[in-house]
Amino acid sequence: MTSSYDAIAALYDPWSRSVTEDVEFYVAEARKAAGPVVELGVGTGRVAVPTAQAGVRVIGVDDSERMLALCRARGEEAGVADLLDLREGDLRQPPVTERVDLVTCPFRALLHLESDGERIQALRAVYGLLLPGGRFVFDVFAPSKEDVEETHGRWLEREPGIWERADWDLERRVLSLSVRGEAGETRMQLAWRSRAEWRLLLEQAGFEVAACYGWFDMRPYEGGEDTVWIARRRS
Ligand SMILES: C[S@@+](CC[C@H](N)C(=O)[O-])C[C@H]1O[C@@H](n2cnc3c(N)ncnc32)[C@H](O)[C@@H]1O
Repeated sequence: MTSSYDAIAALYDPWSRSVTEDVEFYVAEARKAAGPVVELGVGTGRVAVPTAQAGVRVIGVDDSERMLALCRARGEEAGVADLLDLREGDLRQPPVTERVDLVTCPFRALLHLESDGERIQALRAVYGLLLPGGRFVFDVFAPSKEDVEETHGRWLEREPGIWERADWDLERRVLSLSVRGEAGETRMQLAWRSRAEWRLLLEQAGFEVAACYGWFDMRPYEGGEDTVWIARRRS
């Protein structure tokens, strides 16, 4: 099966150009880890390449062949291809036999999971990849009422020549996101859960929650759309 990202792989970097605030955070977390980092949903290497540039080896998993191809090219261009180990596969069953100190899943990639069954499967798989005391760091969001009202059903030019349309299903808590530009178009689904529900899912998968921040500067959560999680495998 092809990924919905294959069709917009060439658009992804210009589309996400303004998303920069998380990179330094994830790179700092990677620097603290002993050994390689597993990044689930590695995409085009927006985070993985700066991480490799900081000298940390990254095992990157993604189910989009085209996103991985761009990640490989970006790593080569940055001169860090030897620190990037890219593997095509599903984050619910990552093709990783190594055990590591840090697994990350940046930029809301977990929202592509559709059910609690899939979420638990993915979280248990992450737990299994971690060494005792190892950390799982990820971010997710749940939309505000204002965001839904401002964007619902409207084509908005997110970046020059790149249009985005959000259709929010508040009952199912699913966002259907359409993206189109000269280099491609796609429609993808993102399912959100509340902060309390993510905490419960993490605990059900065996994690203890070390922190849940409201942003990448580690400010306390005060009710915003984004949550940034640090969960730990028990020692
Ligand atoms: C929002 S992008 C994030 C990419 C990158 N981590 C970043 O921060 O720019 C989500 C990525 O997750 C990947 N993805 C979505 N569902 C996946 C799954 N079930 N297994 C593996 N990768 C998945 C997509 O192909 C895409 O590259």
